[in-house]
Amino acid sequence: MTVGIDKIAFFTSPYYIETADLAKARGVDPNKYLIGIGQKRQSVIPPTQDTVTLAANAAVKVLTQEDRDTIDMVILGTETGIDNSKAGAIYIQELLGITQAARAFEIKQACYGATAGVQMAVEHVTLHPHSKVLVIASDIARYGLKTAGEVTQGGGAVAMLISSDPEILILGGQSAFHSENIMDFWRPLYRREALVDGHYSTDVYIDFFNKTWQQYQQATGQSLSDFSAFVFHLPFTKMGLKALRSVVSTSEHADRLLHEFDFSTQYGEIVGNLYTGSLYLSLLSLLANSDQLHIGDRIGLFSYGSGAQGEFYSGQLATGFKRQLLKTSVEDVLTNRQQLTIPEYEQLYSTDISLHAGDVDFDTQKDESRFLLAGRHGGQLK
Ligand code: CAA
Repeated sequence: MTVGIDKIAFFTSPYYIETADLAKARGVDPNKYLIGIGQKRQSVIPPTQDTVTLAANAAVKVLTQEDRDTIDMVILGTETGIDNSKAGAIYIQELLGITQAARAFEIKQACYGATAGVQMAVEHVTLHPHSKVLVIASDIARYGLKTAGEVTQGGGAVAMLISSDPEILILGGQSAFHSENIMDFWRPLYRREALVDGHYSTDVYIDFFNKTWQQYQQATGQSLSDFSAFVFHLPFTKMGLKALRSVVSTSEHADRLLHEFDFSTQYGEIVGNLYTGSLYLSLLSLLANSDQLHIGDRIGLFSYGSGAQGEFYSGQLATGFKRQLLKTSVEDVLTNRQQLTIPEYEQLYSTDISLHAGDVDFDTQKDESRFLLAGRHGGQLK
């Protein structure tokens, strides 16, 4: 029996900005954002979407009734949860009509939370082969208007169904992890925006990637040539590229891995940072866009959550993997987005939803997503 990712789906806001427009508005050379940071567009999350609705909008795309009846665990990985106590997974379970005979909870460790969920899910299904686990990574990345981090914002969700005999990616092998108390990025309870030391964070990320990759190689005896591609957590695409370059510069296999890396960044560079979902959007981007991958190919995954936790693990492409299906599913979301001007983005960014149901002053007619946030504290969800 194999265990791994059987289904995967992505959702983001229907609004975006061009980072070149943002650069002009901030008096910065657009090439700094386009080339230096490696981001072309950024999803702008309206007040009608939160972590729960983004997650439900992603998962609803792939779940069948049989899945809803079989799932016995719903795990939400997020660092922008909506409640300090109650798990967003409980709302998601109800919105999606998943059986109540399930565990539903949330995992937090910055951008790493969903990876902890995936690993837990794989172990659970290995012990209980008839189970299915829904793992959703959902976040909204906010650094604040006119901050250095503004160009690396974004948001969205990736939902994954973990089951036995998966169609997409077989998981469950060796994993290497490293954690250490580091203040590179955090968001105290009283803040909506994160505090980040971006340059330090990049250094720690590269260091953790090298540490976990070394550990993984020692434990498995595998080396770069055993991999068809590496995918990374991508706060911005240049960050992953720096990490990859730090291990491939002297390898003959470098060209292949760098080529595949480009496929893995195609969606991230037009969506922005998804925090927990970012690594899994990179995986989707690779699977949907690379024409070089074959059944059985090994893909390395590097997960990083500031604070900090790193993990390197790998998966092998399963026989049911269908590139075109994944591509259509993601691009349906991305091609129907509406471009905002910078003043429109700034207005949306500064609009918060009322604490009472039905008080939304943002024009919800423009957002045709299946699930919308209509208010808080007893607010109704469409
Ligand atoms: N043309 C081309 N390139 C240019 C350029 C131009 N005109 N001008 C500058 N550049 C290049 C620079 O040379 C630099 O490239 P290198 O890094 O390769 O040297 C790049 O553009 C960026 O320039 P700066 O470093 O000067 O940019 P900055 O000081 O404004 O900050 C940043 C950039 C650090 C990425 C900042 O945007 C930031 O802090 N972003 C947030 C970072 C972040 O997300 N960290 C989180 C890590 S993990 C995570 O996701 C969080 C989690 O776990 C919760």
